[in-house]
Amino acid sequence: MHGTSVGKFYAWFTALGLLVGVLVGLGYYRDEYRPWKDYQRRFIREEIRRASTPDQRLLAQSTPVQVRQILLPELNRVDRCTTCHLAVEDPSYGGYPQPLAYHPLHDQHPFDKFGCTVCHRGQGRATNIEDAHGHVPHWDEPMLPQKYIQASCGQCHEASDNPAAPELARGSELFETVGCRGCHKLAGVGGNIGPELDRVGARRSPDWLRQHFITPAAVTPDSGMPPQKFTDTDIDAIVLFMLSQTGAELPGFYASMKVIPSASEGRRLFQQKGCLGCHSMGGQGGKVGPALDDVGLRRTPEWMMQHFRDPQTVSPGSVMPRFGFTEAEARALTDFLVHLRDQKVGLGILGLMGPVDRGRGIFSKYGCAGCHGPEGKGGVPNANAKTAQQVPALTYVADGYTKAELKGIIFKGQREILPLDPHRPAPPLYMPAWGSTIKDAEADDLVAYLFSLKPKGEDLGF
Ligand code: HEC
Ligand code: HEC
Ligand code: HEC
Ligand code: HEC
Ligand code: HEC
Ligand code: HEC
Repeated sequence: MHGTSVGKFYAWFTALGLLVGVLVGLGYYRDEYRPWKDYQRRFIREEIRRASTPDQRLLAQSTPVQVRQILLPELNRVDRCTTCHLAVEDPSYGGYPQPLAYHPLHDQHPFDKFGCTVCHRGQGRATNIEDAHGHVPHWDEPMLPQKYIQASCGQCHEASDNPAAPELARGSELFETVGCRGCHKLAGVGGNIGPELDRVGARRSPDWLRQHFITPAAVTPDSGMPPQKFTDTDIDAIVLFMLSQTGAELPGFYASMKVIPSASEGRRLFQQKGCLGCHSMGGQGGKVGPALDDVGLRRTPEWMMQHFRDPQTVSPGSVMPRFGFTEAEARALTDFLVHLRDQKVGLGILGLMGPVDRGRGIFSKYGCAGCHGPEGKGGVPNANAKTAQQVPALTYVADGYTKAELKGIIFKGQREILPLDPHRPAPPLYMPAWGSTIKDAEADDLVAYLFSLKPKGEDLGF
């Protein structure tokens, strides 16, 4: 009896020992065969193959197989993507299959300072593909599909003015011109009919957004948002612009180049800083300093940069103030002046336009077109509204109202919209009150613009 019990004990012991052995073996096997190790060995083999001197070969052979990471304390990130994406910095790996390919266009964003996930999203610490690319349930920042990668630029750079991200700029332009602000606030400006959009890029996926723009009601039942009549590329652009609105506040250095210097940024500064007080352009403006139309032919960009830093250093005794521009601002202004000739700089662009043109800008700035259609031509559905189940067009407001009455309507708004059928739900869209948003002078220009919408010559028949 005694013997049997010891035998049983030994049998169990042996079984347990075997089990542990198998588990250790399995663990070792899985560890050895992690895909990232494969990629690193492949990379090392390639480096050895390319070595042309014994020293290079030795160096390649002694490359350790290990997890690689970029520490980004300021961004509170650790990115291990380079554990697999090993050759991102080596141009001779251009065109290699992923993950061993060279990364194009990174001079301005060195990887040791930027890492990867600040642009691509994904899970920086992970070392297997699905987790790293973030296509896993518990990770709410999946990698951006490549076609939307320009969304990332908008976190750090002004979207409207990044020459290296044209699709993002297009999205921003659409947002400002088709009237989204009529119903949505972004950065504090806009209406209240739809939700604020400041963080929508962190809240919604690319697929959701795309579907929502094509048919809002397909993802939000009974949505009051009108379907957008965009081309396919414009839908991508607006989705991209939405994805860029993550609400992320990037620290210090990363936020240091909000505006990328460009001619159009220079034009904005030119208007804002009152250069026309002393200089003229197209015959308009002051005469204290020389006319600037042809300054690009007289002065080199280097001279202008130095002149903006400190006019005295190149024009002793000049009365032109030292504005204290940053280098980026000086570059933008120089760009603007150098390219003046190829830009068709109409007077309008310089802010010398009349009330109707200014009013058109205000109509666009506050998104009136989102409800009243482009140029106030109407056509935006408003289910169960008495006026043709649409938001009214504004083409003939000049016939129905005085300028003062129109200003009153715009300031006060109109919350109660008469329903066609009182038993059905109230119309979703109403006229917001703009009194706290639109300044008095802006309203005068807006009204001048609304009056101008009436087609010319239509009074002749009366
Ligand atoms: C375990 C290895 C591994 C890690 C870690 C890894 N990747 Fe990859 N990555 C790959 C492989 C393999 C491919 C090509 C096949 C594929 O797309 O799945 C790839 C493809 C990509 C692509 C191209 C995708 C496309 O749609 O064309 C991007 C972008 C990318 N990785 C970014 C990242 C970023 C950012 C990280 C870090 C958060 C990362 N990767 C971490 C292995 C890895
Ligand atoms: C400043 C933003 C930025 C950073 C930082 C960045 N990328 Fe990229 N990445 C891009 C852009 C933009 C592209 C597309 C380039 C193109 O299409 O020419 C790209 C392309 C890629 C591709 C190729 C995708 C394809 O379709 O073949 C991979 C892989 C990739 N990045 C991985 C990484 C890894 C890994 C890191 C970190 C070491 C990184 N990226 C850092 C912006 C960035
Ligand atoms: C995390 C913030 C961040 C992101 C994301 C980012 N950038 Fe930048 N970018 C910077 C900073 C900071 C600089 C200035 C670098 C320097 O001064 O060394 C810069 C410089 C640039 C420049 C050079 C500007 C000049 O004229 O000197 C260009 C162009 C640019 N970025 C385009 C892009 C594009 C395109 C993307 C998206 C693919 C992008 N950036 C994403 C922060 C960012
Ligand atoms: C006539 C009013 C109106 C206009 C114009 C309008 N929206 Fe909306 N939008 C809404 C309403 C109402 C909702 C909430 C219901 C829904 O999700 O569809 C909404 C929802 C959204 C959402 C989802 C937000 C979230 O957090 O779920 C996004 C994104 C959005 N709109 C973007 C836009 C963009 C971009 C434009 C311009 C192209 C635009 N909207 C024009 C009324 C409008
Ligand atoms: C969220 C949708 C929405 C936005 C944005 C909006 N409106 Fe309206 N607006 C309406 C509706 C609905 C009416 C109809 C009110 C009624 O039936 O009493 C209206 C009525 C008007 C009227 C009176 C028209 C008439 O024939 O009686 C004027 C003028 C007007 N809006 C101007 C503007 C201007 C200017 C803006 C931009 C600052 C603007 N609206 C933005 C929805 C909107
Ligand atoms: C208080 C008046 C004053 C203001 C404001 C002013 N300037 Fe000047 N600027 C001058 C005078 C005077 C000169 C000629 C002396 C000199 O070269 O500094 C001049 C010269 C220049 C020149 C060189 C022209 C040439 O043909 O040599 C440029 C370029 C210029 N200014 C650009 C600007 C810009 C851009 C602004 C706005 C940011 C501006 N100035 C604002 C007075 C002014």
